[in-house]
Amino acid sequence: MTLRIGLIGAGNRGIDVYGTHLLDQRERARIVAISDPRRERLLHGGQLHSVPAAQLYGDAAAFWAAAPNLRLDAVIIASPDDTHHAHTLHAVALNLPILLEKPIANNPAHIQDLQDRLRNYRPPVIIAHVLRYTPFFQVIKTLLDEKRIGQLIHINHTENIGYWHFAHSYVRGNWRRHDTASPMVLAKSSHDLDILRWFAGAPVRDLSAYGALHHFKASEAPAGSTAYCLDGCAVEAACPYSARKIYLERFGAERDWAAWPNNVVTLDSTPQGVRAALEDGPYGRCVYRCDNDVFDTYSINLQFENQVTATFTLTAFTEANTRTVHLVGTHGEIHGHMAKGEVVVADFRHRTQEVITLSDVTSDGHGGGDRALLLNFIDLLERYRRGELVTSLTAFHEALDSHSMAFRAHQAASRNARLGPVN
Ligand SMILES: NC(=O)c1ccc[n+]([C@@H]2O[C@H](COP(=O)([O-])OP(=O)(O)OC[C@H]3O[C@@H](n4cnc5c(N)ncnc54)[C@H](O)[C@@H]3O)[C@@H](O)[C@H]2O)c1
Repeated sequence: MTLRIGLIGAGNRGIDVYGTHLLDQRERARIVAISDPRRERLLHGGQLHSVPAAQLYGDAAAFWAAAPNLRLDAVIIASPDDTHHAHTLHAVALNLPILLEKPIANNPAHIQDLQDRLRNYRPPVIIAHVLRYTPFFQVIKTLLDEKRIGQLIHINHTENIGYWHFAHSYVRGNWRRHDTASPMVLAKSSHDLDILRWFAGAPVRDLSAYGALHHFKASEAPAGSTAYCLDGCAVEAACPYSARKIYLERFGAERDWAAWPNNVVTLDSTPQGVRAALEDGPYGRCVYRCDNDVFDTYSINLQFENQVTATFTLTAFTEANTRTVHLVGTHGEIHGHMAKGEVVVADFRHRTQEVITLSDVTSDGHGGGDRALLLNFIDLLERYRRGELVTSLTAFHEALDSHSMAFRAHQAASRNARLGPVN
């Protein structure tokens, strides 16, 4: 029997990512009800998945009131960070399996609350730490488990966000503020901290962190800049963050008007539609005149309980949007470049070097991780329905350490940022 899924949040993750993969799995699982306050996204999702109008809910309270009668097998929670806690509580009250987007919640109190309530919860709850499912990180984990570099000593990991991606999501977009979203290190990198914890094989003992919002603020605004890029800004041609360059050129004329990030800017995928949305919409704003406050860079040092150490950098100021990692061990080292799909292992014992090339790393979101996570969730649900005791690589309790690492890093960085410049 086909699994019946309730979708909460019909945005990019809910519809464009999981929804797309679910359409390929129609025989196994279908979206049968959707909750989203944005009418255009609700109708768009409903149409794509042939959800009856009566099961499209603009009001989350109405969705949860109806949920006991919808015969749901599971919910996918893909709404904004600050709504995850409340939706999870509703799902738990109905004893439903959950695919919960990361972060689990955007503050430590809500995470602790869910930790307490889910302690003896039997239905599967998985967190969308999609990186664990990517061939790239799985290959590295296998090499570590096989002791191909001996004993792991240190990890040097960088998340290169890409200046254009940062401007889109963390200056103009949904993750720009601590109060409505999360500290950038949690929103962007609970994934990466989770991977570091997974590779190290032990909880973190101590960490130090630095970070700040260096650039995207009023004090950095060039003379002649205007509130909107298309408003006759005098310095637009020289500005890398120009909305015209990002949406009309890089992701419009040079790629696909209907794909990310333009499908976040507007559902009208014509060049005229995107342009109109930039004229006075949030994604057309000058990056120096938004209401953002999240940091643009963190530099974090970690020591794990087994003496493995790590340095982790995440920054807006890169051209590429990718992850690069260097792991050193007593008998070898590994270099990895996610976007290139390349993992290079040097073996000091035999003085050899192996280059592992992963094919097809860019054709699917997060290096194949999005699809693999969704398939894993469907598999768990089918097994759970057969009465099996199921667990997952990204089960709720597996994700907790990464979240506490992120909050600790943000608190340390905030404390250090308040020290101000030292002359
Ligand atoms: N796993 C990952 O790699 C990854 C990547 C990006 C985003 N995310 C997370 O996924 C979640 C969704 O992100 P997105 O990019 O799809 O954002 P989005 O803005 O495209 O979609 C979120 C949708 O939720 C709707 N919504 C708002 N309040 C709601 C509520 N109370 N109940 C139900 N729906 C509500 C919005 O109208 C919107 O359509 C966020 O928590 C985000 O941090 C995870």
